Amino acid sequence: MSPLLTVENLRVSFPTRTGEVNAVRGVSFTLGRERLGIVGESGSGKSQTGRAIMGLTPGHAKITADRLNFDGVDLLSASKRQRRDMRGKRMAMILQDPKYSLNPVMPIGKQIIETLRTHESVSGRQARDRALAMLEAVQIRDPERVFDLYPHEVSGGMGQRIMIAMMLVCGPELLIADEPTSALDVTVQLEVLGILDKLVAERGMGLIFVSHDLRLVSSFCDRVLVMYAGRVVEELPSANLAAAQHPYTRGLLNCLPTIGSHRHPLPVLERQAEWTQ
Ligand SMILES: Nc1ncnc2c1ncn2[C@@H]1O[C@H](COP(=O)(O)OP(=O)(O)OP(=O)(O)O)[C@@H](O)[C@H]1O
Ligand SMILES: [Mg+2]
Repeated sequence: MSPLLTVENLRVSFPTRTGEVNAVRGVSFTLGRERLGIVGESGSGKSQTGRAIMGLTPGHAKITADRLNFDGVDLLSASKRQRRDMRGKRMAMILQDPKYSLNPVMPIGKQIIETLRTHESVSGRQARDRALAMLEAVQIRDPERVFDLYPHEVSGGMGQRIMIAMMLVCGPELLIADEPTSALDVTVQLEVLGILDKLVAERGMGLIFVSHDLRLVSSFCDRVLVMYAGRVVEELPSANLAAAQHPYTRGLLNCLPTIGSHRHPLPVLERQAEWTQ
């Protein structure tokens, strides 16, 4: 079976006053209906990789790839209109800061309905029912009440779950979740991960889970890509994380705190210039 998503030699660069910034420098991977984690330090190109797949790269940036294929559709030659139609319906991305993705002056329920009606012709009644069902699916306990609230009237954790509801209401086959839980406390974080996990299993969705938390990613995903300076430096099944070869991954693993061990001084990751070659 051909994969849901194929990315080959993806490059994203930004022209700036001081020269070109190469945010993504030749990323390749495939994704099936599975959970793939992307880890890497800040600035390693995780978000820009996700955005390029979604067609959400800022206009002035330059994208090239040998192949960018989603379920048989060549994303590189797709028109703006085709990409827009696909976004939200067949592929969705939970952006790093969901608060900025919700419209502050529109009630939550109405926003979910708008997303749904952009892609499907459903009656007002059906749309409302589906929006409420989706809020329930992300474990909002009183969906009827939350439906009429504005984004500033809900907590951060609820906001994040509402974003997930909005992204999933059309039933996408691919979901890119960019640090969907990093602003949350641990209990809410686990709750949100549980929701994503259930949705992947029930709907057979492909999930790309972006985070800089190696431990979280390896416990939640089937496979992990480790990015460094715009490149994938290592690809591993989560179960084999301990067998990581690249010095950056090894360094990350070495820096994870373990309960019961006393380490002085704390290990520090020393970056080597040759990792960026
Ligand atoms: N609009 C832009 N103009 C210029 N450079 C940019 C722009 N957006 C991103 N970059 C650069 O691209 C690189 C990769 O950014 P990206 O947002 O993908 O990192 P990231 O891995 O998601 O980091 P974080 O963990 O902090 O979210 C960074 O060096 C960043 O400075
Ligand atoms: Mg990011």
